[in-house]
Amino acid sequence: MNGEISFFLSPGELYISSEPNAVIETYLGSCIGVALYDPIAQVGGMAHIVLPEGNKDKEANAPAKYARSGIPYLIEEMLKKGATREHLEAKIAGGASIVQDTGINVGQRNIAKVREVLSQENIPVLEEDVGGNFGRVFRLYIKDGSVEVRFIGQKLREAALATLSPVKEEVTLRLLLQKISQLKPMSKTMQRVLSVIESDPFSIEEIKKEIYQDQALTVNILKICNSPYYGFAQRVANLSQGIVLLGLNTVKRILLSLSFKNILTPSINGYSLKQGEFFKHALGCAFMAELIAKEKQYPEPEIVFTAGLLHDVGKIILDQVAADKFHLVMRKVLKEKMSFLDAEKETLGYTHPQVGEMVAKQWHLPEVLIEAIAYHHTPEQRQEAPAVVAMVHIADAICRLVGIGCGAAGLTNPIHPQALTLLKLKGPEIDSFIEKVPEIIKQIQTFEAA
Ligand SMILES: [Fe+2]
Ligand SMILES: [Fe+2]
Repeated sequence: MNGEISFFLSPGELYISSEPNAVIETYLGSCIGVALYDPIAQVGGMAHIVLPEGNKDKEANAPAKYARSGIPYLIEEMLKKGATREHLEAKIAGGASIVQDTGINVGQRNIAKVREVLSQENIPVLEEDVGGNFGRVFRLYIKDGSVEVRFIGQKLREAALATLSPVKEEVTLRLLLQKISQLKPMSKTMQRVLSVIESDPFSIEEIKKEIYQDQALTVNILKICNSPYYGFAQRVANLSQGIVLLGLNTVKRILLSLSFKNILTPSINGYSLKQGEFFKHALGCAFMAELIAKEKQYPEPEIVFTAGLLHDVGKIILDQVAADKFHLVMRKVLKEKMSFLDAEKETLGYTHPQVGEMVAKQWHLPEVLIEAIAYHHTPEQRQEAPAVVAMVHIADAICRLVGIGCGAAGLTNPIHPQALTLLKLKGPEIDSFIEKVPEIIKQIQTFEAA
């Protein structure tokens, strides 16, 4: 609408406004958007709640992240902006669950806690749209306190339901291979830099020489070095300083992410991922997988990072060859309660991990990356590097849970219990990874800005 000022809320954030043309918007998976509004003062606010509760310190440091601390905090901040406690009304959305989430249950726990805290605070809930297995877009309009809740991929859902019974619309292997051969991820400079880093022993001078040949790349690396996330007191003015301050592994991660940014940034319409959402999901999964790897003391966290970054690469190709067929995939998901993955297979003849495996082979990626891409939704299938596959599987599930690029597929692809068992992960540990999402988002933002 004309004149609207949209404010996008990331997980764990809160925003309050009394500007009549302001709209607060957020994407929700298992998280809950709590919108409060005072219709007299026309002050509204929203918190994107990630978990039911944390310990005292955590709640004090990041109150908006948790239902128990976030709702009282939101109320307090709204009173400062002129709202009156007695006038406040709530509208809530979110709290979706992954199908067969093997007891993680964060969506249901969030719903219960949000309802409990709102009732303790004596705030009536006027509208709620919670539960299910799909992500939502939630908007609060400050002019009148109205809210809008849509499923992510609403258009695809409508097209899916308007279609008569779907025919099998298989994709040809010839077309797949043709599109795969056209997918060029890395510039020549990037390829040379990475091969220098891989060589043992490598020379930092040589790396610098290669990077300096690409001015845009140099500028982007420096931008990331100077982003608030790394918080260096002094300005990083040149590459040598950047490498010293960040360490070579971080520089390598930056290079990798930037080298795939071009192919990961465009919108992936078949999956209802807007421009930038897919890249956000890829980076989110990369950072989350690396975090799990470090926590589990996996010796090569960089490999896990790369696996996370590239796990969904098959989606790019499937979207290119079957853009006009995804409503049929979605129809199977909605009508037959099928996972998006199974519906891809049944409708198109291929799944995105299968196509991703073809891409990975075409790019001559190491075997461990090929496996992570090929099995990221089916970690129970036999492979050589089950730990890497399991870490990517869980990282992907966490990103979808918190609404980072879950797209139209939502939470219909299950979590496999074997991945949790293999990594010796239980519910509370998953919560502790979910807790780190706001930090990961900050990190993603530094890469998006580059
Ligand atoms: Fe996937
Ligand atoms: Fe994914």
